[in-house]
Amino acid sequence: QDLIPRAPRAAARSAVAPFSVRMPVPQELRPAWSGPDHDLYKIAVKPANLEILPGLTTPLLTYGGTFVGPTIRARTGRPAKVVFVNQLDRPTNVHLHGAHVPAVSDGHPMETIDPGRFRSYDYPNAQQGTTLWYHDHSHHMEAEHVYRGLHGMYVIDDPAERRLRLPDGPYDVPIFLRNAQFDENGGLVFFSPYDRTTILANGRPQPYFPVAARKYRFRLVNGANEYTFRLTLGGAEFQQIASDGGLLPAPVPLTELVLGSAQRADIVVDFARYPVGTQVVLTDAASGAPVLRFDVVRQAWDDSRVPDVLRPLPPMPAATVRREVSMRFGYTETDVFGLVNDKQFDPNRVDFRIKRGDTEIWTLTNGDSDQGIEHTFHMHLVQFRVLDRNGAPPRPWDAGLKDTIQLPPNETVRVQATFRNYLGRYVYHCHYLEHSSLGMMAQMEVV
Ligand code: C2O
Ligand code: CU
Repeated sequence: QDLIPRAPRAAARSAVAPFSVRMPVPQELRPAWSGPDHDLYKIAVKPANLEILPGLTTPLLTYGGTFVGPTIRARTGRPAKVVFVNQLDRPTNVHLHGAHVPAVSDGHPMETIDPGRFRSYDYPNAQQGTTLWYHDHSHHMEAEHVYRGLHGMYVIDDPAERRLRLPDGPYDVPIFLRNAQFDENGGLVFFSPYDRTTILANGRPQPYFPVAARKYRFRLVNGANEYTFRLTLGGAEFQQIASDGGLLPAPVPLTELVLGSAQRADIVVDFARYPVGTQVVLTDAASGAPVLRFDVVRQAWDDSRVPDVLRPLPPMPAATVRREVSMRFGYTETDVFGLVNDKQFDPNRVDFRIKRGDTEIWTLTNGDSDQGIEHTFHMHLVQFRVLDRNGAPPRPWDAGLKDTIQLPPNETVRVQATFRNYLGRYVYHCHYLEHSSLGMMAQMEVV
């Protein structure tokens, strides 16, 4: 079992002193062209050497030459076409995590873009407002590629949400969280024992971020391969307003937010309660390490609000099909591989055939409970609802529409989804990407 990458448990020694760099906001990508019925974007996938730790150079794989990649701001009801040009020395592909897209544009592990080639992905943006992210999904390589920087954010803005008057414009800030291991020269260490992990916010180590004394909406993405953040603001209350699938029915007041790998949460923090000059630290209670420091630097007018009712969940038809999914590792003398229902991923095998329109309940189990190993569960194509954990009500962080959930040892989780949108082959897998790269992935076909 030494072969299994272990989740980092403590940010033991960070590579730099915290709060020495300012957090950038990833650049918003302008369309290369806007037609009557869609916007066209272009992103080069290319290597870049960037300064992440002060004074050191980190070789990275990037979208558009930046670490985190550019943010695409799409709009509900307006399709986007994104052309990715592969300027790497290896195949890559792109998956828009949490999006409802036709199978050809989903970034199937075997459908990669060769070096020197491009591919265009069609994103219908027919779903309601959501915080999504895009990342590499190439067969066996996704863990390393994402770790080395192939990740970016994609926001679907929903015009119907405007009447809610949530904080927007400069007060709606995407924050991409992850961790990384650096060697003494600034290089990324992939697949290491994780004794020296550094938390990155928008690609910078434990930065600071100036804010006004008013409400902000932060769109948090956990883009770490294998890490669960427990985010706190020194005990102060904040409100979670959205999850993987967009707005919750009502805001949820929290003092701690649990955010597993690949999950998203939109939160509203009201800095009006602090005097100008206050420094508010966002801490990862899982490791005790600071993530980010908000510096309240000025007063500001604020007519935004967080209404008591956000967006009711859509009605859920009764389930007619039940399935079991278990995730675990398998071992030989020399090797370890990931298994779903005792099988390693085979892109040519269909594991479940699903009738379009059907509502199904999947019972998910962790087959490594005796080893104390945690897994996650992520399903492409749809968002699901968590019905229960070990027969008990779901956790606060299971609320709303989800596409990725934690599967800790000794927990059996039931989820329910309706497969109404598209036909074709889509994968589901553990989103600890080291696990999925080892084969902890399977495939469904909607027919
Ligand atoms: Cu974010 Cu199949 O992945
Ligand atoms: Cu796993």
